Amino acid sequence: MIEHITWIGDPRKGHLRLLDQTKLPGETVNLDCTTVQDVWDAIKRLSVRGAPAIGIAAAYGCVIGVQKVQEMDAHATGSEGVRHALEVAATYLAKSRPTAVNLFWALDRMRRVEPCTPERLLEEARRIHEEDAAMCRKIGEYALGIMEGLRVGHPRAESGANGVGVLTHCNAGALATGGIGTATAGMYLAHERGLPLRVFADETRPLLQGARLTAWELGQAGIDVTLVCDSMAAQVMREGKVAMVIVGADRIAANGDAANKIGTYGVAIHAKHHGIPFYVAAPCSTFDLSLKTGGLIPIEERAAEEITLGFGKRTAPEAVKTYSPAFDVTPASLITAIITDKGVIEPVDEANVQRVVGG
Ligand code: MRU
Repeated sequence: MIEHITWIGDPRKGHLRLLDQTKLPGETVNLDCTTVQDVWDAIKRLSVRGAPAIGIAAAYGCVIGVQKVQEMDAHATGSEGVRHALEVAATYLAKSRPTAVNLFWALDRMRRVEPCTPERLLEEARRIHEEDAAMCRKIGEYALGIMEGLRVGHPRAESGANGVGVLTHCNAGALATGGIGTATAGMYLAHERGLPLRVFADETRPLLQGARLTAWELGQAGIDVTLVCDSMAAQVMREGKVAMVIVGADRIAANGDAANKIGTYGVAIHAKHHGIPFYVAAPCSTFDLSLKTGGLIPIEERAAEEITLGFGKRTAPEAVKTYSPAFDVTPASLITAIITDKGVIEPVDEANVQRVVGG
């Protein structure tokens, strides 16, 4: 598995090492974060991205946040000063990106750590990291069951040249989590267990997480992956090459509406039109039951340059007006099921969401 988030050293002097995802697939470069500002910048510029990975990175960022205070007063173990430093770090990190609820979920867990020492904080960050890996595996087992069912029962299942055709959008893979991904978890397990499968990865405009990250990580694992432009997904479905769609999520409301990378909503509409099941895969940490519907999910807007000057090449007039929401919300009515670490939510409605992830 790709080690892309690593704590280096001890709790008091150590730091966070990230694989800089902005450089993939061309270069595999590590980024060492020694300050809270470094961690904030890495999240903001998407050096680390994907809902669970953002939460994990921010949790380690909290450890860095208390190091200076702890160093000034070695006996300040659990003192008000350390707790204040933690609060300052957590409040700041929470402002890096607004949509993925895993960020706020992880920061809240860090805030609850007692006693508030670098040692205990690092322990909690590591626990969040490890628990995420375990949740990915559980999601993978449920997803694999669904894939196996499609293979025997679905007329489209054999239409992918090498087995079950699965389309995904963005990167909800190992690079987005502490484990084998959410949307990709079933793919890794299917590959491990010899179930033939063919993945179609949408390139995912404007930042190309599908092309740069999903195609890269699945390729590294030896999984059959075919890259398509976002605008090709409907045609690929019409040609009968796709038996199912699986995507990740950044935040899921109490009624099952799910926010994910911009373009996901369109993919869901295409899937519905072609009678293809559309699955969302996400751990319980991605649910926000305080929001009744997806309309209440805050949607991040990104800088104009990401669509006019992407990767350093000008592709639109400098003065053109732009609008760049980074996420959209797929209504529960378009989602066949949500695959969580605690079970599969199907049909997707408030009662079933509550039954599986509530409480
Ligand atoms: O802007 P990004 O790259 O952070 O967006 C990531 C996604 O939309 C993922 O699909 C989502 O976070 C799920 S990750 C398991």
